[in-house]
Amino acid sequence: MPSPHDVLAPAVSAAIAAAFGDDFRGADPVLRPSQFADLQANAALPLAKRLGMPPRQVAERIVAALDVAGVCEGVEISGPGFVNLTLSNDWIASAAEGMARDGRLGVPLQAQQVIPLDYSSPNVAKEMHVGHLRTTVVGDALARVLEHLGHRVIRQNHIGDWGTPFGMLVEHLLEVGEGSDEARLAETDPNAFYAAARAKFDESPDFAERARARVVALQAGDPETLHWWETLLGASKRYFNRIYSTLGVTLTDADLAGESTYNDDLPRICDELEAAGIAVVSDGALCVFLDEFTGRDGKPVPLIVRKSDGGFGYATTDLAMIRQCVREFHANRIVYVVGAPQALHFQMVWATARKAGWLPDDVEPIHVQIGNVLGPDKKILRTREGAALKLMALLDDGVAKARAYVDEARPDLPQDVRAEIARQVGIGAIKYADLSVAHDTAYVFDLDRMVALTGNTGPYLQYAAARVRSIFRTAGLSAGGVERSVAIAEPAERALALHLLAFGSVVGQVGDALEPHRLCGYLYELAALFSSFYENCPVLKAEGEVRSSRLALAALTLAVMEQGLGLLGVETPHEM
Ligand code: ARG
Repeated sequence: MPSPHDVLAPAVSAAIAAAFGDDFRGADPVLRPSQFADLQANAALPLAKRLGMPPRQVAERIVAALDVAGVCEGVEISGPGFVNLTLSNDWIASAAEGMARDGRLGVPLQAQQVIPLDYSSPNVAKEMHVGHLRTTVVGDALARVLEHLGHRVIRQNHIGDWGTPFGMLVEHLLEVGEGSDEARLAETDPNAFYAAARAKFDESPDFAERARARVVALQAGDPETLHWWETLLGASKRYFNRIYSTLGVTLTDADLAGESTYNDDLPRICDELEAAGIAVVSDGALCVFLDEFTGRDGKPVPLIVRKSDGGFGYATTDLAMIRQCVREFHANRIVYVVGAPQALHFQMVWATARKAGWLPDDVEPIHVQIGNVLGPDKKILRTREGAALKLMALLDDGVAKARAYVDEARPDLPQDVRAEIARQVGIGAIKYADLSVAHDTAYVFDLDRMVALTGNTGPYLQYAAARVRSIFRTAGLSAGGVERSVAIAEPAERALALHLLAFGSVVGQVGDALEPHRLCGYLYELAALFSSFYENCPVLKAEGEVRSSRLALAALTLAVMEQGLGLLGVETPHEM
């Protein structure tokens, strides 16, 4: 089911070749929707220079050679030489029918790439904060979209499960004893567990001494120490999994690729870098200095791969991960959905990996930068005590707010149905709010705005879908069973159908640009176009072919809305 763009771009290219010869065929006929036409080609202006011909004359020659019979009902030249293309209603109608028959709804299957996708990546024995919420939600939407486009996504939950704090954490666990209330905090209130360990570390030199010895034992693979470390890891995994299942994200234990996974590789990474002369010892630490990365004083800033105490750093682990992605997974793109402040870290790690030959030129690493989540004071969201806000509490609040709405709007529904709708709406609202903003932009976490039924919110779109469903319920029809014949007469039908046809290319763009907010914007516009269609074009009161065509458009809208929200990881309640 080709999109208007897919049909018209080659037609314009062919016209250029016919008018001016094959040398000019390559000129991209940039087609964009415009105020004046379904698609506007901006081909004449760039060609005019090369041809030494006035742009309008170039446009006339293109139009004369253009064959769009059966596709366009109008072709016009406007302004300095734009070619305005107006699709015929019949073509739009038959394209919409084709889309309705296609289970993929026009979403292309792209040439398969292998894409390791690093997202969520919280830290063991620490509370997940709203920043991790955002990388989890955005990353999961990208995983779904990329998979749907035909790629092999290898989820990499790069949890922070290794390093010096684990000496202190294991020692604290030993002191309080496995199974004690304090130990259980590791799972129920990780920040409290961490804070208790930290306090001991700061107050008692004796404890600090033992904690340091623990780090050495952990790194040396002492079985007893490893056992306690695994106990901590298990508690954190249960905690993460509770959040993941509440959020409805696709991550499982099989996707865990924590820092500890790369342990055995780290000495080798350092040795190879040193042998190749890429890393040098400076003040006892093994460092990589790259000319492109300089500090304020103009001197290169070091990427530390081995600290002076012999411990390995965050960067070393990331180098090991890249090597694995390239050598074992044969990655085409490596995508990191991680906070924006880590941009420099990744730049330095990639430059080092390229220099070491671990990251070939044809493998593209991409940092999907995640912006901050802010509180009402426009500062990074925290509770009044200054500790990062508890994520589970936020999710519960979202569901409670949605529940208050459902209780008021739908007292007719049984309790358990209302509870389920509230869960879908509350969680959907929080996820959608994360996704609808460009991923690198900060936004204010405002639950009331998120659960609102107006504006570009999850509940607004969920409600739009539920409303379409209710049309079919009223008519005693199933949306999947309607006839798929479309006829277009009214402007609102035309606008809706044209927008529906763009779905596939929007999903493709989301996968290419790694920007879920484009799909949100598309669905928001779809809901608005459906509303004006529904206002202007009676569906159930219409008769004959008009009725069945309108039902077909409604069914297609519902299918796109559900598939679109599904790709974002947002559920659609059957009624609201
Ligand atoms: N655990 C880190 C944090 O919470 C994020 C890890 C991101 N991934 C990576 N490969 N460095 O900040």
